Amino acid sequence: MKTVSSLSDLRAARLSLKGTVALVPTMGYLHEGHLSLIRQAKADCERVIVSIFVNPTQFGPNEDLSNYPRDLERDLNLIQPLGVDLAWTPSAEVMYPPGYQTWVEVEALSRPLEGAMRPGHFRGVTTVMAKLFNAAQPDKAYFGQKDAQQAAVIRQMTRDLNFPIEIVICPTMREADGLAMSSRNEYLNADERQAATVLFRALSAAKEAYEAGEREGEAIRRKMKEVLVREPLAQMQYVSCADYDTLEELAVIKGKVLLSMAVFFGKTRLIDNFVVG
Ligand code: PAJ
Repeated sequence: MKTVSSLSDLRAARLSLKGTVALVPTMGYLHEGHLSLIRQAKADCERVIVSIFVNPTQFGPNEDLSNYPRDLERDLNLIQPLGVDLAWTPSAEVMYPPGYQTWVEVEALSRPLEGAMRPGHFRGVTTVMAKLFNAAQPDKAYFGQKDAQQAAVIRQMTRDLNFPIEIVICPTMREADGLAMSSRNEYLNADERQAATVLFRALSAAKEAYEAGEREGEAIRRKMKEVLVREPLAQMQYVSCADYDTLEELAVIKGKVLLSMAVFFGKTRLIDNFVVG
């Protein structure tokens, strides 16, 4: 596995990769969720590039950029045995040199849910993804369903800007008790870690209600809230029952639906989702 940081080294290394090339973009501090994307990429493509870059432009001023967990050596040791060809670890100066002033923004899909709670977040995500796509020139790129809106926004950007890249969305990897794997789980203390299973429990309750025939969006949202309020360490930020394609809140459920939520445990903000229908 080759590791490169500069754009010129990345381009030279990319030119030497023959056959179909996958890109798995990450912010590092890798866990089994990231590794599952890499395994899928490896199964589908002849060559795999993994980018590791904590992208400053997708963090808000009061978010966790400076505390975001980082351990590059550990990450490289985790991905090497998976047969990754190229690890790309640019610095913030490489991605955003002084004078940087170009942004990529997906409009409507970036507005609700995470976009409403984290202004500017998706502008940072789509900008960095356009730059990563341009530099790495992959045939396919792999993302997790865990970040459902991110996946939708990136799919839209790829279509709108005519990137000749297939976007592949992979299932959410979970701990044995249902908690979705996340680099941010690292912040939880033992009590919060225990409490954090409430996201999975609330989503499961909503899914059960759906499967029992409930089709009223508000009833589904109420179901999730009922489970969340019973967990004293959980501070709900939002729950949503939205159309899978438009991400608009639903009064009446029809077709494919995204059930999603954001919940604080102390200062740690976790998100999770299920798709039903
Ligand atoms: P990061 O949070 O490191 O996640 C990298 C990829 O791993 C994303 O596609 C995310 O959805 C996926 N992922 C995270 N947890 C997962 C889980 N439990 N199961 C399956 N996949 C999971 O998302 C980002 O980085 C950034 O926003 C990025 C796309 C790299 C742009 O900076």
